[in-house]
Amino acid sequence: MKVQYVINGKKTEFDISPGDLLLDVLRDHGYYEVKGNCYGGSCGACTVLIDDIPYASCTVLAAGVDGKSITTIKGIGTLQDPHLLQKAFVRSGAVQCGYCTPGTILSAYALLKKNPDPTDDDIKKAIDGNLCRCTGYIHQIEGVKMAVKMLREGGE
Ligand code: FES
Ligand code: FES
Repeated sequence: MKVQYVINGKKTEFDISPGDLLLDVLRDHGYYEVKGNCYGGSCGACTVLIDDIPYASCTVLAAGVDGKSITTIKGIGTLQDPHLLQKAFVRSGAVQCGYCTPGTILSAYALLKKNPDPTDDDIKKAIDGNLCRCTGYIHQIEGVKMAVKMLREGGE
């Protein structure tokens, strides 16, 4: 069957099987920035935004989101032009192995779109589903707060 998505702003069409997981379809088509780990909805490494809402893509049937807009980490910023959240995560030491980072940043990005002035609890709740074995979370929370400050001050 054919499905169509808008991925990171670009129209795409893929040929898939009805039982394919969105995570597998994305990675099979080169979106390697979407990470697979537990394949059970537990770790959040595979988080993408579907119509601006974070989902674990290993829990989503690709056929079920036909026609939707999907955002991966490369849709919000790149190495050449990083989003403020990405800059803040680097500056605050919130990235170590980096495996969880795309998913965590997308969860934080969705939070800041809805709530540009989050409390610590709001941040903890937003990234609750994104497990990190490296950082102990404190640096990630600091990273989100740093990005909030940078956004408020209009940039770097
Ligand atoms: S790989 Fe999807 S939640 Fe862990
Ligand atoms: S930075 Fe390694 S899992 Fe989070």
